[in-house]
Amino acid sequence: MNTQSGEQHNRPFSLASLPPGTCRDCSAEIGRGQICDECNTKRIVREHDRDILRALENSIPRRFRWASFDAPELSQRVRPARAIEEARALDLDCSAVLLGETGSGKTCLGASHLRRIARAGRYGAAASDVHRAECSRFLASIELMGPDSDPEIRRHAALRGVLVLDDLGAELLAAPAGSPLAAMRGERTARLLLMRHNEGLPTVVTTWLDFDGMGAIYGYNLARRVYEDAVIVRLAGAPVERVAA
Ligand SMILES: Nc1ncnc2c1ncn2[C@@H]1O[C@H](COP(=O)(O)OP(=O)(O)OP(=O)(O)O)[C@@H](O)[C@H]1O
Ligand SMILES: [Mg+2]
Ligand SMILES: [Zn+2]
Repeated sequence: MNTQSGEQHNRPFSLASLPPGTCRDCSAEIGRGQICDECNTKRIVREHDRDILRALENSIPRRFRWASFDAPELSQRVRPARAIEEARALDLDCSAVLLGETGSGKTCLGASHLRRIARAGRYGAAASDVHRAECSRFLASIELMGPDSDPEIRRHAALRGVLVLDDLGAELLAAPAGSPLAAMRGERTARLLLMRHNEGLPTVVTTWLDFDGMGAIYGYNLARRVYEDAVIVRLAGAPVERVAA
């Protein structure tokens, strides 16, 4: 057996070829090996929980890895404070629109929501929670700009978890309105959202586009699907009137 260190230290390891002794985690006497069955199971569970968290973490941009409803930074970075409570109260399986002007804290809240999903999906929780956490992802809309984005769309459209689609509309920046480039990018985004909607999969969209703004760009059939049944969390700069038709 190699020396255990760093990451390796926490991994479950083979019981073979080890002398009898005591469990290295709980000191119980064991016939052979270094860890008792119970502690080995606990290690596997911890490993699994870390895997879920890591997969979600890796989809969240580095700048927002701090974001969680427990993070003290949240109240300094989200305006108004009421929006934090509204986002914290979101059902883990619901569709939502986090609507507000630039800098109001939409992405902070989207990332915090995903971290809540990751924590709820620990091994040992309800299987549906674990599955949702395993399949949930953060996707920046700008990732839909590139030529490689079609497989991404199919992947995210099929995942039976929550998709946080961050900054809807930003993928059209730098594409002149009415241009074929804008049409192509807009169509990709719309396809992703429509496919998820058809499958009944929850999507949390962050955007500055209210119902009419979204309808003017992507078509009102898309705007209706994004806004209908979605909980709308209004951040600073969001129009006060009801957005859904
Ligand atoms: N890692 C960080 N360090 C310092 N400030 C941060 C960090 N992440 C976010 N902020 C700040 O938190 C506030 C809200 O940021 P956030 O990116 O969530 O806003 P947003 O509504 O998503 O804006 P946009 O529409 O431009 O994407 C901003 O003032 C931003 O500068
Ligand atoms: Mg943002
Ligand atoms: Zn033990």
